[in-house]
Amino acid sequence: MKHFVGLLAMGTVALAATTPKSSVTFNKDVLPILQKNCQVCHRPGEVGPMAFLTYDGTRPWAKAMKEAVLTKKMPPWFADPQYGHYANDRRLSDPDIKTLVAWVDAGAPEGDPKDKPAPVHFNDGWNIKPDVVFEVAKPYTVPASGTVDYTYFVIPTGFTKDTWVIDGEVRPGNRSVVHHATMYLRPPGSQWMKDAKPGEAYVPPPNQRGGRQFEANAKAGPKEDMRNEWFMGYVPGLFPQSYFDPTHQAAKLIPAGSDIVIEMHYTPSGKGAEDQTKVGLVLAKGLPKKRLVNLNVLDASFDIPPNDPNYAGHASATLAQPVTLIYSQPHMHMRGKDMIMKLEYPTGESETLVSVPHYNYLWQNLYFEDKPIEVPKGTKVDISCHWDNSINNPLNPDPSKSIRWGPQSFDEMLVGFVGVIVDRDVNPETLLIRAKPGSKAEVATAAVN
Ligand code: HEC
Repeated sequence: MKHFVGLLAMGTVALAATTPKSSVTFNKDVLPILQKNCQVCHRPGEVGPMAFLTYDGTRPWAKAMKEAVLTKKMPPWFADPQYGHYANDRRLSDPDIKTLVAWVDAGAPEGDPKDKPAPVHFNDGWNIKPDVVFEVAKPYTVPASGTVDYTYFVIPTGFTKDTWVIDGEVRPGNRSVVHHATMYLRPPGSQWMKDAKPGEAYVPPPNQRGGRQFEANAKAGPKEDMRNEWFMGYVPGLFPQSYFDPTHQAAKLIPAGSDIVIEMHYTPSGKGAEDQTKVGLVLAKGLPKKRLVNLNVLDASFDIPPNDPNYAGHASATLAQPVTLIYSQPHMHMRGKDMIMKLEYPTGESETLVSVPHYNYLWQNLYFEDKPIEVPKGTKVDISCHWDNSINNPLNPDPSKSIRWGPQSFDEMLVGFVGVIVDRDVNPETLLIRAKPGSKAEVATAAVN
């Protein structure tokens, strides 16, 4: 009994020691956390639906915030913490979660205005400081309803020399109708989208790459030009791409004379809207030592049965040369359920690059390694995933359909992207030995390069 009393007394002491917690205020304790972790999305013009810049703007959300940080719904982050260490890990620290919760529990007080940190300066619009900006020539009108086929805009770069890029950002003109925007490079001589007129919106014929029935065409087996490279993109939740890695002095190459091809996925919002998307680039000063290449490991041969809640997919490819791996990115569409990307070393050991146990198509993310991984030649990149084609998947537009590879979000994909650094002069086409050379999987590679 005495012991019990002692414990109680200790409890009281502990409580007394934490009383200052109730003096947690917005200005002193909470605003710095929001500045560091939330305002990047929760400010006007960004993806978060409400702004957390001021007390008045934040106060109505206090309860929802507590819930969102306790359940780890916010900040959005999808990698299983068991694996990997990522430079761009967005998760809140435990002390920060405790502070937010204590503030809400104390009635969300504002506190002394003198405690307020200086506001964070965000560049208006751009998150980078671009040296060059390319813009779609004129506004494009997105209809109020219906499905808009993927729409492409070709913009000649006018670069007469090889140009090296260290940072890039795709800025949609109108986020209410832009589901995603992808920038590809089209090197001189490529026949891809050859009928597109610069400055004009272009929808390829259904059986060509980018067209609605490209998948059907891919099976017939024509070789696509593999050099059309994915360069960067905008999807909700993806930050501007930073390619520069100070340790390796790497940058991304735009070959002289290339065109930019912007792929727009528009989702009508109920009212007509105009969009004019821009691409900004920060150029390398001088010649970089190394080149950053975006490789994709994929399989396009799957056929997901109707109503299957857990259909498995698999893809792999082997590295023909040593590389330095800096990021990985799982990619599926609306039926994506989970994905694990692994390295299997020639020694037989394996390492998980990233595991996303609850994949969410609405949140595409690149997982940047905290410390780049030196990957020896002969290492296999191995990808396994599941799709949920059942009615229980809230994003599933139609569980009664069997689903194959295709470009629209209601088609599916199975791709693991890896960002690798190689010597400047390495030909990227020689880097991967694909599991099914010459198969439709290889052909389809072009569709997401
Ligand atoms: C990468 C962008 C991003 C970051 C960073 C982010 N949010 Fe959000 N947040 C969103 C988006 C988009 C939504 C609306 C869609 C959704 O709920 O998933 C949202 C919704 C919310 C909601 C409403 C949740 C609900 O259930 O309705 C709260 C509360 C919230 N965020 C709090 C925070 C807090 C607190 C932080 C920082 C600790 C934060 N968010 C960081 C993008 C972000």
